[in-house]
Amino acid sequence: MPLWYGGDYNPEQWPEVVWAEDVALMRRAGVTLVTVGVFAWSRLEPSEGRHTFGWLDRVLDLLADGGIRVDLAVPTASPPPWFSLAHPDALTVTRDGVRLTHGSRDTYCVSAPAYRAASLRITRALGERYRDHPALAMWHVHNEYGTPCHCDHAAAAFRTWLRERYGGLDALNDAWTTAFWGQHYSDWAQITPPRATQYLPNPAQALDFRRFVSDEMLAHFREQRDLLRELTPEVPVTTNYVLAGWASIDHWKWSREVDLVAVDHYPSGRGTAAAEQTAFAADLARSWANGRPWLLMEQATGYVTGPRMTAKEPGEIARHSLQHVARGAKGVMFFQWRASLGGAEQWHPGMVPHTGPDSRVFREVCALGEALKRIPPDEPADEPLVEAEVAILWDEEAWWAVQAPGLPSAELDCLAAVEQAHRVLWRQGVTTCFAHPSHDLSAYRAVLVPSLYLISDEAARGLGTYVRGGGTLVVSFFSGIADEHTRIRPGGYPGALREILGVRVEEFRPLADAVTLTDFGVATAWSEVVHLDGAEAVARYPGGGPAVTRRRLGEGTAWYVSTRLGDSGYAGVLARAGLAGSGAPGVEIVRRRDRVFALNHTQDEQPVPVHGTDLISGEPLTGVLNPGQCVVVRAT
Ligand code: GAL
Repeated sequence: MPLWYGGDYNPEQWPEVVWAEDVALMRRAGVTLVTVGVFAWSRLEPSEGRHTFGWLDRVLDLLADGGIRVDLAVPTASPPPWFSLAHPDALTVTRDGVRLTHGSRDTYCVSAPAYRAASLRITRALGERYRDHPALAMWHVHNEYGTPCHCDHAAAAFRTWLRERYGGLDALNDAWTTAFWGQHYSDWAQITPPRATQYLPNPAQALDFRRFVSDEMLAHFREQRDLLRELTPEVPVTTNYVLAGWASIDHWKWSREVDLVAVDHYPSGRGTAAAEQTAFAADLARSWANGRPWLLMEQATGYVTGPRMTAKEPGEIARHSLQHVARGAKGVMFFQWRASLGGAEQWHPGMVPHTGPDSRVFREVCALGEALKRIPPDEPADEPLVEAEVAILWDEEAWWAVQAPGLPSAELDCLAAVEQAHRVLWRQGVTTCFAHPSHDLSAYRAVLVPSLYLISDEAARGLGTYVRGGGTLVVSFFSGIADEHTRIRPGGYPGALREILGVRVEEFRPLADAVTLTDFGVATAWSEVVHLDGAEAVARYPGGGPAVTRRRLGEGTAWYVSTRLGDSGYAGVLARAGLAGSGAPGVEIVRRRDRVFALNHTQDEQPVPVHGTDLISGEPLTGVLNPGQCVVVRAT
């Protein structure tokens, strides 16, 4: 199947005369798929039970006539004002006890019975009406699930979830260490979500609440999905994950439930940093999709996060899109088709900007549509789309646990550590993927473990088996410290990994000032008192203590980095561990099955070891990429 191309289309913002022009422009741009109706609930059901589908019928018919398929949304992310007024108990309550009001979006409690029932009603109405519409290609449930609520409905659902997890209060009291600060619970009714409290919250309670929120939102998703599957068994059902500095859901778990992994990505960096973030997001998405194709559901034609909203540089719209395709996307989509004139996101850039189609942005949008058409579809095959020799461990639960207050340093940052691991390899042209700690890792040459604070006994055993079997493991500080209930493993850090690494860490010594190691440069933020217990020191702190260690174990090697290194220092460790790539910085070369993508993110000409004819331009390659140039060739 050809690559999908398109974006969110919100025609309810525009008079009908604009719709015909929209479809004509979409055809000009090569658009093949649009997401319709994500926030249209109040237009589809202006009062309880009264549906106004006429406008949507006309939009879908117009799109179908234009040959454009629809990813039809179930608009549960934005309940109508009448719903919130009729069911104030279904409005979000923050941890501070503030009940929010409608007026933005995502203001609901996913545990509120009225919201759950209304969600199913609008889903059924849409499903029944459009099940046979020729434009329907996919269902898009909700939007970026991510609203936690702390109200009494949420509290009741949290207790039910806890009962299932722990069975009895004794197990919960034990897991949460409620013996400390007199938190012992003697009745389930005493347990609440982690609402605002006087001082530090209980970390195990906070973590379980995040697990619960993810599961509760998943239950909501599954209800809509199951209903839609019943009505249209052939039509895939998905939802779009948000990828940012926070994660509201357990993506591994969710990815087993969606028919297609779909992600939204808005880089906060600029230039090469944006390209690094794009590759990171795409590799995550492909990993969640278990190596299969996934969909970039949203990106923007400009930068919308970070220091300020700015235009993307000429060529970046296509380059970022091709990065996603190279790394497994089965299509690239934008938010949104036409930039809004009013409303909360009136300054969010569109595929058709405020200026209209006579604009650089729209010309680039059309050129991208043309380029995507020229990239041939994947041949059906069993092997993964993109081969990766190195896996980086990623687990939202560990990340959530590090976001809790009260840890030994405010500088501990799981996401930053994972991003560094990916970035350093990306810069050297090493293609990576992500894996959950519980996965079978035996296929990877190396596994990186950046600040994986929590790890289960079983996953730790798996890492030992991996190393003994010949793998290279590189663990960074603040990994393996706690069990799944955030309880510290005693006897020396990093508890669960001590034996594999051959070290025993006696103390943490967060650093106020940077120090220079005997090798790998400067270390910041964090240091440890490391005792060797089977490992050898590869680099030492100024006082002589081991800072980076290596242990041969069975057929493999386990490295430990006990401090925060800069990118070049970390790259140095990886190189010593045999993970040096041969890529040039800013030049991205990725093989997707039988096609090779070569992208020059720099401002200079770059030599590339890629030969053949560029499928996009039809021109033969000369061994050099121009600044910003992107090519796709058949692998030889
Ligand atoms: C996404 C969201 C869209 C739009 C976009 C731009 O996260 O799904 O609805 O808000 O951001 O800000």
